[in-house]
Amino acid sequence: MRLRFTALLAVLLVPALGWAAAPAKPLAKAPVALKTLFPQGKLIGAAVGNDAIITPSNAHYDAAYNRTLLQNFNTIVAENAFKGWIWKGRACGERGCHNVIDFSHADRIAAFARANHLRLRGHVLVYYHVVPAWLSQQTKYDAKQRTWVYAPTHEPIRVLLRDYVRDVMTHFKGQVFEWDVVNEAVSDKAPFGPWPAWNPETCSATQHCDFWETTIGPSYPERAFVWANAVDQQTGAGAQLFYNDYNNDAYNGIDDPGFSHPLTKAEAVSDLAYKIQHTPGAHIDGVGLQAHLKAGTIWGKRQRNLARRYQKLGLDLMVTELDARIPLYGKRPTRRQLRQQARTYASVTRFVLGTPNVQGMLLWGFTDRYSWIPRWQHGWGAGLPFNAQEQPKPALFAMEKALRAH
Ligand code: G3I
Repeated sequence: MRLRFTALLAVLLVPALGWAAAPAKPLAKAPVALKTLFPQGKLIGAAVGNDAIITPSNAHYDAAYNRTLLQNFNTIVAENAFKGWIWKGRACGERGCHNVIDFSHADRIAAFARANHLRLRGHVLVYYHVVPAWLSQQTKYDAKQRTWVYAPTHEPIRVLLRDYVRDVMTHFKGQVFEWDVVNEAVSDKAPFGPWPAWNPETCSATQHCDFWETTIGPSYPERAFVWANAVDQQTGAGAQLFYNDYNNDAYNGIDDPGFSHPLTKAEAVSDLAYKIQHTPGAHIDGVGLQAHLKAGTIWGKRQRNLARRYQKLGLDLMVTELDARIPLYGKRPTRRQLRQQARTYASVTRFVLGTPNVQGMLLWGFTDRYSWIPRWQHGWGAGLPFNAQEQPKPALFAMEKALRAH
């Protein structure tokens, strides 16, 4: 009995005092908490794909997802819940016409951000890809007014969109710290001008035809920034106003002769930002670099050159939609592919940390479980730093290492 008691005492005390004879089992590695490693003032965020996964009462609620989200990120953005499809129609009465907007999904994401002290980024007010069908299907050219109108009410499309921007910004006043006012207005082929015109007969929802460019005119981005600035001033919201795009992140640093023929999309986008800055009544704070990259892409000099170009304009940058996709074609990612991907994430992290006018980085999701990539990029996937089982991948540890080394 006495012997048993001594043995018990030894089992309890020896490890506590640190003189265990046998080597103790290594402690499980503490989970990474990215947000605690980011320096003050830099944002680390993720897109939330769907309000169902963050709503405890919903059948799709994902507790592990929520834990990882809150542990790692200080900022969120809705992947889809703020997009044009919340715009349900136009209703007219004695007092004129107004927009009908369903804020229910977006509100749940905003409430989640509030409850968890997360910053909320607003994506997106004006995006040609998400024009609601009720609008595009009933739009016609009105020869008398010499403009495109919404057929049922004969109102110019310009007026409807201006009101929509006002309504959405007013609804989220004080909740959204930064808006993507316009997304992807610049085409991705030389000479990087507007996308092809929209045509009700030939354009399907997935094609690159710019409804806003056709119905409002090529200066619709500038106009949108005038409207957004006016609402921000009137409501006193103090939100930052951004233009957001993809393939606009690499700049060789050699200035081309003018604005008419930019050599890269990065130049075309910064030229557009410059035009917005010089449009009376408009205001722009910065430009989003979406950064939908291929695993193995390394950010460095060309991105720093770009940041300097924006610094000269007095504008900020934000990495808004980072992921680094892997060609899978039905297979699992190899170790080599995961290492390449880790290098991509580390290089973007270093760029964000080392460049003063970059506000931070947002990932387009954080787990492969809910990523948009397999649905949109055939054969590709596994682009995020947590796998489909929501376990960390080498990309996460590479970010952690870059942060600790900074
Ligand atoms: O929610 C409906 C669902 O009810 C329906 O059954 C299903 C059938 O197709 O569609 C579902 O909606 C889909 C939605 O994603 C949510 O999964 C839409 O069809 C689909 O078009 C939509 O795709 C989104 C895409 O933007 C289109 O706006 C992607 O999730 C989203 O990741 C992607 O995000 C864009 C950024 O906004 C801008 N930058 C590029 C980025 C990637 O393409």
